[in-house]
Amino acid sequence: MGPPGSGKGTQAKRLAERYRVMHLSTGDMLRAEIASRHALGRSAQGYMDRGDLVPDGLILDMIRSRLQEIPEDGGFILDGFPRTVAQAEELDGLLNGLHLPLERAVLIEVSDAQIKIRLSGRARLEGRSDDTDEVIDRRLDVYRRQTEPLIALYEKRGLLSRVKGEAPVESVFAELEHLRTE
Ligand code: AP5
Repeated sequence: MGPPGSGKGTQAKRLAERYRVMHLSTGDMLRAEIASRHALGRSAQGYMDRGDLVPDGLILDMIRSRLQEIPEDGGFILDGFPRTVAQAEELDGLLNGLHLPLERAVLIEVSDAQIKIRLSGRARLEGRSDDTDEVIDRRLDVYRRQTEPLIALYEKRGLLSRVKGEAPVESVFAELEHLRTE
């Protein structure tokens, strides 16, 4: 978990390669649905372009089948999911059904100022349609209102770890690797 631009995707990809586990990013899945012009992508695009969350029902339909691809003895990293309390509750049910435990929730903490620098830099390089100033503000607001409540939820369950996301990519990764051995 973490605000937009906190480094979830960067770190999740590295962790998945390092530990040979599945990386499940709902943002990447949605962008692939849009690129392949599937109906789900068409329904999601407007929400993403505005910086709003895609409705829970669409996200859950999309992730349900992907969770079923995780081998019984395999690990997985969720990136950008769950993002609402309803998604977290549904995830618990899905994982219980698959006998897969949720071992840890990691929160990558980065200030708004640093997020804006990173995402406007990415906009210049990659031109992601939701990296404009106005949409970045909206994504931050949506994160505060809809996703931040999950921090308390996972903290209460003793699953939450926080990492300082403003350090260089390598240092954040080292901190994440260290968590695994705790
Ligand atoms: P999603 O793709 O998940 O976007 P996001 O959460 O806004 O996150 P980003 O991809 O922008 O950032 P990140 O935290 O992954 O950071 P990254 O590693 O890329 O979602 C997009 C949209 O899809 C949402 O707005 C929503 O509409 C929809 N959606 C997705 N999941 C959903 C769900 N579950 N429910 C409902 N809707 C959903 O890094 C960002 C930049 O910073 C990069 O340029 C990177 O190189 C750089 N960087 C990373 N780490 C560092 C570092 N340590 N130091 C310096 N630069 C760094």
